[in-house]
Amino acid sequence: MEYKNILSDQSNGIATVTINRPDKLNALNKATLTELDHAVCAAFDNNEVCGIIITGAGEKAFVAGADIGEFVGITVEEGRALSQRGQDIFSRIENGPKPVIAAVNGFALGGGCELAMACHIRVSSENAQFGQPEVSLGLIPGYGGTQRLIQLVGKGKAAEILMTADMLKADEALSLGLTNYVTSIDELLPKCVDILEKIRGKSPLAIGEIIKCVNAYFEDGTDGFQVEVNQFGNCVATEDFKEGTSAFLEKRKANFRGK
Ligand code: COA
Repeated sequence: MEYKNILSDQSNGIATVTINRPDKLNALNKATLTELDHAVCAAFDNNEVCGIIITGAGEKAFVAGADIGEFVGITVEEGRALSQRGQDIFSRIENGPKPVIAAVNGFALGGGCELAMACHIRVSSENAQFGQPEVSLGLIPGYGGTQRLIQLVGKGKAAEILMTADMLKADEALSLGLTNYVTSIDELLPKCVDILEKIRGKSPLAIGEIIKCVNAYFEDGTDGFQVEVNQFGNCVATEDFKEGTSAFLEKRKANFRGK
């Protein structure tokens, strides 16, 4: 697929997807969502990629939300389809087999906050601002924001953020657990790379199982403890498990092959 709204790069086994509409503060129009989905799925399928960073072009915005220009004249059916599509794409990010880190380099509003929350880990620059301003537009979040915000910051604070449309600065997001780290803008991508480098040394299959187990906690009707039992069992059948345990006993570094 030819990308017009994103940049997709790969270096040292890390794929970086950059939303690239800086003149619109990287707002997610339909075409951008399609490209984002394609680039992330391609990175999941690429054996050379161990993890993904999603960020925004420029220093002002990660993503300032869904593209409000595309809301004009929208019908109820179209609204539901738009919301469902965004949820499906963000779910694919959350449930993919490899770690995805949001490098939040400015405004993460509406769909931008929702995109960051669909990633497994968030790292923010000092100028980052998070918020769900949809109620100011007569709307509510539609890409999973009402649910994932509760998961990350708890019900009471989520209700306040969703109803007031307040923007949270990076340090407040840090204290709420909405972001894992706050860095200078120059240190933002290196910090994300550092985290992925640590993960890269581990078994890729075990990392995929961790993602499944963590997500299982939040799945309605799923017993996360049972998922852990099942995935633990799957791990012991892998070559990675044999390699990891042998390497420990032989006092050498494990060389995982993801098999
Ligand atoms: N959708 C479409 N265009 C957007 C956008 C969005 N979500 N957010 C910003 N833009 C566009 C602006 O319309 C403007 O375009 P223009 O230069 O063609 O007029 C450009 O990006 C720059 O934005 P601007 O508002 O001039 O920047 P600012 O620094 O004054 O304000 C924000 C920054 C983020 C506070 C402001 O752009 C904003 O409130 N955006 C909407 C956020 C939102 O409600 N998101 C949820 C959508 S569901």
